[in-house]
Amino acid sequence: MLTLALSKGRICDEAAPLLARAGIGLAEDPADSRRLCIATSLDDVRVLVLRAQDVPTFVEHGAADLGIAGKDVLLEHPGGGLYEPLDLGIARCRLVLAEPRDAKPAAPRPRVATKYVATARRYFAGKGVQAEIIRLYGSMEIAPAVDLADCIVDVADTGATLAANGLVVREEIAAISARLVVNKAAMKLSHGRISALVERIGRAAAGDGGGCR
Ligand code: ATP
Ligand code: PRP
Repeated sequence: MLTLALSKGRICDEAAPLLARAGIGLAEDPADSRRLCIATSLDDVRVLVLRAQDVPTFVEHGAADLGIAGKDVLLEHPGGGLYEPLDLGIARCRLVLAEPRDAKPAAPRPRVATKYVATARRYFAGKGVQAEIIRLYGSMEIAPAVDLADCIVDVADTGATLAANGLVVREEIAAISARLVVNKAAMKLSHGRISALVERIGRAAAGDGGGCR
């Protein structure tokens, strides 16, 4: 049995049709089911439906052989226990530094609200700036308006959330999309089966119907 860890929510919504095109149909819609382990149309593949941030952990520890997670989540995840063979091209967005439209010149030690603590720390360190990182779990966009932070590091897509909260993008830190990741040990142990699965998912992501051949 191969186990694929999937972020619930946005990535699951976009990945489920992609997996179906690859011939890996989910037996239940995760949005309608309380079941967290879902069978698929392939007898030897099952799917775990997880919090986005937990997908790399399940895959790295071998609790799942493969996973689908956003690059933003992977950038936050320490360690090198994962292969990242495919960019699936779904759940596209940008990881950005944003600040109020009328922000004053940068403070010497800017306060940065983010859930991307490690990535933000690396980004500011790379610029030689000592930032104070304030860890939030969501609604980062409100932090500058209530003087909790000077700026934020968060994902943006249309920019509507930033604009609605009076923020503008100062810099794009990374282009984000969902990636297929594979446990390194599983890749060695089950090389043939995992490679075949990666290949059919890759064909579906490229838009040429991986499951139909
Ligand atoms: P959780 O609710 O578990 O804390 P989350 O809010 O990050 O996680 P989603 O909003 O479903 O969960 O986002 C999952 C992934 O989708 C993110 O890790 C990111 O890669 C991508 N993503 C987030 N926001 C957007 C967006 N507005 N447009 C496109 N992709 C996005
Ligand atoms: C995500 C992200 C931003 C927003 C950006 O939130 O955290 O707030 O999308 O998208 P936009 O640029 O198109 O406005 P989401 O909608 O997932 O809600 P969340 O707060 O539950 O993560």
